[in-house]
Amino acid sequence: MLWGSRFKDKLNKSALKFSSSLSFDINLFKEDVLVSKVHAEMLAKVKIISSEEAEKIIYGLDLIEKHFNDGSWKPEDGNYEDIHSAIETKLFELIGNTAGMLHTGRSRNDQIATDLRLWVKKSSKELINALHHLQNVFLDLAGQHINTLIPGYTHLQRAQPVSYAFHLLAYVEMFERDKRRLNFVHDVADVSPLGSGALAGSTFPLDRKFMAENLGFTEITANAMDAVSDRDFVLDFLHCCVTGMMHLSRLAEEIIIWSSAEWNFIKLSDKFTTGSSLMPQKKNPDITELIRGKTGRVFGNYISLATVLKGLPLSYNRDLQEDKEPLFDSVETYYNSLLLTGHTIRTMEINTEKYKEELKGDFSLATDLADWLVMQGIPFREAHHIVGNVVKYCEVQNTKFDRLNLDEMKKINPIFDASAIEILDIKNVLNRKQTFGSPNPELVKREIKKWKQTLI
Ligand code: ARG
Repeated sequence: MLWGSRFKDKLNKSALKFSSSLSFDINLFKEDVLVSKVHAEMLAKVKIISSEEAEKIIYGLDLIEKHFNDGSWKPEDGNYEDIHSAIETKLFELIGNTAGMLHTGRSRNDQIATDLRLWVKKSSKELINALHHLQNVFLDLAGQHINTLIPGYTHLQRAQPVSYAFHLLAYVEMFERDKRRLNFVHDVADVSPLGSGALAGSTFPLDRKFMAENLGFTEITANAMDAVSDRDFVLDFLHCCVTGMMHLSRLAEEIIIWSSAEWNFIKLSDKFTTGSSLMPQKKNPDITELIRGKTGRVFGNYISLATVLKGLPLSYNRDLQEDKEPLFDSVETYYNSLLLTGHTIRTMEINTEKYKEELKGDFSLATDLADWLVMQGIPFREAHHIVGNVVKYCEVQNTKFDRLNLDEMKKINPIFDASAIEILDIKNVLNRKQTFGSPNPELVKREIKKWKQTLI
């Protein structure tokens, strides 16, 4: 017990169970031990404890780490309020009363804020690596599909043809923005609150810079009250998870649609699909559906912490303990979703012939035909109207663009000539694109190369 002398009674059992965070802040074990070691070193450096005492504390903490890692000590087995009390109690058992010197000039309030910032820094980098890996999976596939034509959609209606590589590169862009957001979170978390005490600093000459440097922080916080009550960096991290999962969920939705018999654009690997207990023919995209489904709870986690924070007066309040479960859950869910998205994409088969057939003479070439008319000197609005009539004609005649002959075209509008018929040949559609950021195969090739060079 870290406190208790002013209390007559022990904490009620169900109150302890209700308030204990050990089942989840055990995730912070490594960070907590490291923070304690650096704190002990600093106490010796500024001569608040002797170097022998610091060495004894660090020896004890090393032992705790060893016992924890080899499984011979399980903090969950005790009745502890949190990971800090579990470790400190164990330290007393191992090295006796010297353990009592460790907490000099420190509060669990600055300790937990420091642990959490270290964890957020580490995890944001892990997610950035996972995104980087996923981008490479997408680029490998895109490289094989620079000329694979697929319909591009708006409103989920066929709009204009694009290449499959171009579609995949759209996600590479999203993942890059996700990485940028995570880098931002890494940087806002990279400030050490250690040495802030409970809320008002310390009467000891604690060397905060020394601790920050040894823990790998770039800066130290400037206001102890803000330092112990700030969880903005956690909320920012949860927001990264929200946007990142939203991207994966949109992709999941596309994968699910593409794999249905109606679209038949991809075939998912058996390894990442499941069957039905009732219908023998079924192959369900469960993993992808779960990525879409789990996005819901990641959204919920953001709201959950935002709601905890909104009513808190300065500075530390126990409510802040509620920051951890949403954080750990979102990060784990996002990380696993990134991995499984990569596996799904890597192992699926693309039905390359499907859309080549589908797009032959498809009305999604209508804009190209209107652009052709503009090149003949017709104002775009009028061109739009003329092509609308061509589409209407085809619908009435139950035919498609590529089956129209010049006579029919001329009947709709005499301006059409043989070169207009060529426009309706799907083969040339992407090569005609001229703007940067379009699916012109040359540009897409260049983009893939650029990504490959920057992503190494
Ligand atoms: N378990 C607490 C948390 O996660 C640690 C800090 C407790 N501080 C306190 N004064 N009760 O926020």
